[in-house]
Amino acid sequence: MSKYRIAWMPGDGIGVEVMEAARLVLDKLGLDAEYIPADIGWEFWRTEGESLPQRTIELLKTCTCGLFGAITSKPKEEAAKELIPELQDKGLTYRSPIVRLRQMFELYCNLRPCRAYPGNPLNYRDDIDLVVFRENTEGLYSGVEFHPLDDKLRETLTEFNPTMNRFKDVPADEIAVSLRVITRRGAERIIRKAFEYAKQHGYPTVTLVEKPNVLRETSGLMRRVAQEVAQDFSEIELWETNIDAQMMWLLKDPDNYGVIVTSNMFGDIVSDLCAQLVGGLGFAASGNIGDDIAVFEPTHGSAPKYAGQYKVNPHAMLLTSRMMLEWLGETDMAQALEKSIAGVIAEGKVRTYDMGGDDSTMDVAKAVAEKL
Ligand code: IPM
Ligand code: MG
Repeated sequence: MSKYRIAWMPGDGIGVEVMEAARLVLDKLGLDAEYIPADIGWEFWRTEGESLPQRTIELLKTCTCGLFGAITSKPKEEAAKELIPELQDKGLTYRSPIVRLRQMFELYCNLRPCRAYPGNPLNYRDDIDLVVFRENTEGLYSGVEFHPLDDKLRETLTEFNPTMNRFKDVPADEIAVSLRVITRRGAERIIRKAFEYAKQHGYPTVTLVEKPNVLRETSGLMRRVAQEVAQDFSEIELWETNIDAQMMWLLKDPDNYGVIVTSNMFGDIVSDLCAQLVGGLGFAASGNIGDDIAVFEPTHGSAPKYAGQYKVNPHAMLLTSRMMLEWLGETDMAQALEKSIAGVIAEGKVRTYDMGGDDSTMDVAKAVAEKL
């Protein structure tokens, strides 16, 4: 029996290609793992009305962790139109399978490191080393949404908060509400993870990015909890910033920041910006990490326009595999892989189109594997 059982979830579009690149490298490293293919993605939505089939959920429960490529997500109406005729008009609603996995398995910590590797021509600056901790199960992604707005709910909301009166004349189907739910437990566990990481890796600060001057209750709670958690880490300074200003400062002085912690939607936004600072989504790894299980995925999406061309940059996926190895406790393999990736980037001989080259996804994977 292998040491690890890894749910293998290529998903959609270029997810398939970058996973093939990851496999080449993992095989070269000789990771003692069984890779079990798992169904997830657009095709299963279209043909089964379920992008995350129950069999995949059951499978994941038996695995050490999952490795995931990419998923296509479309807004509600567009998604419904693509269902096969037999499933049309059955009232099925598309929901992102990766968001559901994060919530279902309590993968509350979305870890997104963005480091400028020396020699990457796409670096915004060469001195960037950012690590985003994004809360991954709550906030605006909680899935508590209403449209049309039920009269009873509107009455209750108005009773508890008269501000709601401003919308009293808006017809029920002309108003939509998405709740930003933040719990103390959710806030605490992500903020604590960020501080622990900062301590372990020698970062002097943790920056909480929120908007408490407007989102008084939800960002306010994040802020109170951050101040409490910070008490347990006297050697690390807590910085508090607003999301809007933070975006500006990240462009102006990215080297000022290290560990960033934030709620779900802000984290989604901040992590794309940080990715661009270090060369774009082709370099952005990510892990959805819970207390017992984790699913690792590159930050990028399924890029349908490049699907099947073996054109896209696999470094994000390879760095994601590195993160998985580290989580598994395979520290030597993780370090060797990072060294090889950094080596290939620094040499600049093998590059995909985004880096100005014309090498393929698999050429890059082979170059990394050769250095191992
Ligand atoms: C990400 C993606 C997802 C998200 C989408 C695909 C649902 O943008 O992982 O950052 O919004 O979390
Ligand atoms: Mg995103």
